[in-house]
Amino acid sequence: MSTLYAVIVGSGFEAFVASAEPHRVHTRFGPPSAPIRPVRFGDDTALVIPRHGDDHSLPPHLINYRANLEALKDVGAHAVIALNTVGVISAIREPGQIAVPDQIIDYTWGREHTIYGEPDPDFDHIDFTEPFTQRLRAALLAAAETAGVDCHDGGVYAATQGPRLESAAEIDRLERDGADFVGMTAMPEASIAMELGLEYACLSLVVNKAAGRGEMPIHADVESSTLSAKMQAMQVLKAFFGSG
Ligand code: HPA
Repeated sequence: MSTLYAVIVGSGFEAFVASAEPHRVHTRFGPPSAPIRPVRFGDDTALVIPRHGDDHSLPPHLINYRANLEALKDVGAHAVIALNTVGVISAIREPGQIAVPDQIIDYTWGREHTIYGEPDPDFDHIDFTEPFTQRLRAALLAAAETAGVDCHDGGVYAATQGPRLESAAEIDRLERDGADFVGMTAMPEASIAMELGLEYACLSLVVNKAAGRGEMPIHADVESSTLSAKMQAMQVLKAFFGSG
């Protein structure tokens, strides 16, 4: 059986055009952020869901990560490509570039972070040593190579609570902890995906230098860097789905 992929898209990717009727799914955790749209990429169909909702009204701490992932699983997804935007802390990337991180540190709090919200004799301690699926990471990196896109292999993603950006001292602390990137959505998304048995990897769009690291104000940095990162991510997706 071939793998059915889902793509969780973040800010700025709401314009994916559906090729079939959207799936309106309700899960035991409530409704997902938006209906799931089957989108054609070449010969493939991917199941696309906008993480922040169709109207981009859901900040990172209000996203129902459990419902999004369970809904994707319910409509048949096996593997999830998570697009997200990040600030860069270390010098491994510049704004406007992309990366496939290989590690994560969770600084979020108060989010529904596990599918085991009720007593369950079958609850599992997932092994999160490798938080991202290596097969999927490698496939994304191979697609980047096919597309001729410079995509960084690896890096530690620090997941912060948001929705505010960080202070410079907080970024210094994340750097001391070993983080390369900072974003707000990959946790608990990555661990819930693993609990549900879904493959999961991030394709991260670097849209700014993290707080205290850049010359320009962060929002101006985001404004000038997002399009380039977004176009590269789209090229990778097209190559991934064989339509590039
Ligand atoms: N911090 C947290 N999340 C982000 C950032 C950032 O600088 N940029 C994009 N998402």
